[in-house]
Amino acid sequence: MTRILAADAAGIAEAAALLGTGGLVAFPTETVYGLGADATDDRAVARIFEAKARPRFNPLIVHVSDAEAAFRLGRSDDRARALAAVFWPGPLTLVLPAVADCPVSLLARAGLDTVAVRVSTHPVAQALLAEAGLPIAAPSANRSGHVSPTTAAHVLDDLAGRIDAVLDGGPCPVGVESTVLDLSDESPTVLRPGGVTVEEIEAVIGPIALAGQGDDAAPKSPGRVESHYAPSLPLRLDARSIGPDEALLAFGPSPLSAPVAINLSPKGDLTEAAARLYAALRALDAEARQRGLTRIAVMPIPARGFGLAIADRLRRAAAPRCPPDPDGG
Ligand code: TXA
Ligand code: MG
Repeated sequence: MTRILAADAAGIAEAAALLGTGGLVAFPTETVYGLGADATDDRAVARIFEAKARPRFNPLIVHVSDAEAAFRLGRSDDRARALAAVFWPGPLTLVLPAVADCPVSLLARAGLDTVAVRVSTHPVAQALLAEAGLPIAAPSANRSGHVSPTTAAHVLDDLAGRIDAVLDGGPCPVGVESTVLDLSDESPTVLRPGGVTVEEIEAVIGPIALAGQGDDAAPKSPGRVESHYAPSLPLRLDARSIGPDEALLAFGPSPLSAPVAINLSPKGDLTEAAARLYAALRALDAEARQRGLTRIAVMPIPARGFGLAIADRLRRAAAPRCPPDPDGG
């Protein structure tokens, strides 16, 4: 049984108590819902991998209350401190060299000598971290390979019966995951574009590299597997026309039209589009299947700012799927 907890003082206290005793609790962040467990408890962390059916080579993000707590787990440098001052709390995850006696479970780190840390802006996440007094490992609260959840109902669709509770804090405002920036060596590299844009990061620390597409075997970026964030129907990207068997994911003021369609942002706002992306994919997938359609056509999305994160997720959602699911999380 998975309990649904209200995001009030009583619900947060209950969720913190569950985490403190090795339980699994999904909770809202500003990006997507996370599936939380005590990051220092190997057995609790192992339960995350089981509940999600997540490959164990893919490490987890550790959520903490503030930069000070983050830098007790990962070693900071000038770049990390400058970024933390500007973007934390916020949708930026930093991959740092783990400190010598890092208390984070090696399973959560997938055996790496780095640790990924993040400070969420979401008041419910903040309250939960404060109450639990623990670093909380939390990947997105979906089955591995599925679309990330932006509501408590989405979490239950994937994980009901497999986790102890979900804290219902309503829809997540950003809607795509945090940007993952690797600062573990000299050259800062974006491993996953997300809620803080490349342009915003470069304004603080100068030029950064983008991890190449298709280098997913690279040990530095174990989560960069191709097929991911996938609805059940196949996607066709950069659609400039629409077929009779297709549902439409539209963008912008002059969209194509189709009987089953959702426009991510009629005014062409990339931030709004990011916030709506996953819920739109889920809704289109369900309606298209009900009506016997066989594919989702996706209009072109500009690859700047938030558009980079949206394009990355859509590319992975469209990637060929090969059993067993090679997903990262
Ligand atoms: O917005 C988010 O980041 C959400 C919310 C819940 O915080 N979390 C999330 O977690 O998206 P997940 O597990 O679905 O994605 C984490 C990504 C994966 O691609 C993983 O490989 C990468 O971060 N990652 C985690 N630790 C890493 C490390 N030590 N080195 C390199 N990549 C790491
Ligand atoms: Mg994920």
